[in-house]
Amino acid sequence: MSNLNAVLGSFFHTPAYGGFELLERALIELDGRGFIERVTLPSDEGYDAHVIAAREAGAREPGTFMELGSDECGLPGFVDLHVHAPQWPQAGVALDEPLDVWLDQRTFPLEARFADPAFAHAVGLDLARTLLSRGTTTCLYFGSAHLEGSFELARACTEAGQRAVVGKVVMDDPEANHDFYRDASPASALADTEEFLGRVEHLDADCRRTVERFPGVFAAVTPRFIPSCTDEALAGLGQIVAAHDAYVQSHCNEGEWEHGVAVARYGKTDAEALADFGLLRPKAVMAHCTFMNESDTALFAQTGTTVAHCPISNAYFADSACPVRRIHEAGVKIGLATDISGGFSPSLYENIRMAVMASRMLESGVDALVPCSSRGAGRLSRISVAEALYLATKGGAEALELPVGSFEVGRAFDVQILDTRHPYADLTGFGIFDAPADRLARILYLATPDSIRKVFVQGRCVIDRDAL
Ligand code: GUN
Ligand code: FE
Repeated sequence: MSNLNAVLGSFFHTPAYGGFELLERALIELDGRGFIERVTLPSDEGYDAHVIAAREAGAREPGTFMELGSDECGLPGFVDLHVHAPQWPQAGVALDEPLDVWLDQRTFPLEARFADPAFAHAVGLDLARTLLSRGTTTCLYFGSAHLEGSFELARACTEAGQRAVVGKVVMDDPEANHDFYRDASPASALADTEEFLGRVEHLDADCRRTVERFPGVFAAVTPRFIPSCTDEALAGLGQIVAAHDAYVQSHCNEGEWEHGVAVARYGKTDAEALADFGLLRPKAVMAHCTFMNESDTALFAQTGTTVAHCPISNAYFADSACPVRRIHEAGVKIGLATDISGGFSPSLYENIRMAVMASRMLESGVDALVPCSSRGAGRLSRISVAEALYLATKGGAEALELPVGSFEVGRAFDVQILDTRHPYADLTGFGIFDAPADRLARILYLATPDSIRKVFVQGRCVIDRDAL
């Protein structure tokens, strides 16, 4: 099935933060590029006529019309704001070291294997397909320090049909990095970054010509984090970002150690130092941000920078829980991320669950030996599943300034179709808990990869588990 023109069915989404909407028996019609042109509900005038016309058009052109069953529904494709593609083979292992040891001894030797472009392509393709099958239609990726390996990752995303933003990682400080895995010099790091931006732009242009309704692959300027980079590289990357109005991604305020490195080096926080280099701005996405003081949060809000919340990874490496609610209420954009392989799961469903649970633990505190009155974060910290869904969809779309993440007119039709009664993933509430809020909560808490039967990116089918 490909090139959808219209879909009839029920869809959940979160057009505004905090709540959700169920579009029940909605007719969603697409333009020729896979963008939503019209959404018609049974209560709207002309609904029956539009449905008849869409069905007739579908009969004339098979594969262009899809009707969901009563046990099926659609959710927006997820946006994952932070993934390390070269770490995919390591997902689920090597999680018992502190961050600096984990990077140095486990992760950098693995990432060094992206020196082989064929390996990089194979890992990238497998990961893009895995993420798509978990409902992630847009992904912000760290490649490796290699130009070719990172480019192969971008190419793999185009092949898989996943919308992606990809970065060649900069890690140039010879004092901080292994000789077998780093940029040769600050100058080569900057030159490779410029070349990467140009090559990905052409890749995208070529694909637009050759691949029907291609979803888009973009490049990001990607300093790994302050401890890996020289000041010369960080300053140069800031200039490249400004010149190209490019995406930026890095890690910021992740844990005790990283935070301490920036303070010792600059006498200021990670966030302040990144801002000085021009790396906090619109279309900049900073992973983790657990150690955010009030002025860091204000800096993010002023500069339009986004936080990529990585709740599973934070449980292992961040020494704290991210104050999502405080960050959101301060007017900072925030989305959700798996952080493979600091986070073991490729699924944003798992991260939605962890985001909710971590927020509850932050609120209540976790050590029963501490008095209740001082055990928790001291303010309302919890978030709801609907709020977590917003982070996984529209929050990510806002970060990347891409028209995705909901079923509103003008957005790309990126959708995951779930079968809530699939034999391997039955989400029944026995007819007792069928209010829309209960249906949505059950999906978000209990859906498995088996629940997701089809995934479309910009109206094009990229996963069809029933066709396997
Ligand atoms: N900080 C710098 N690099 C990394 C990484 O690969 N994962 C995590 N979690 N933190 C980092
Ligand atoms: Fe990371």
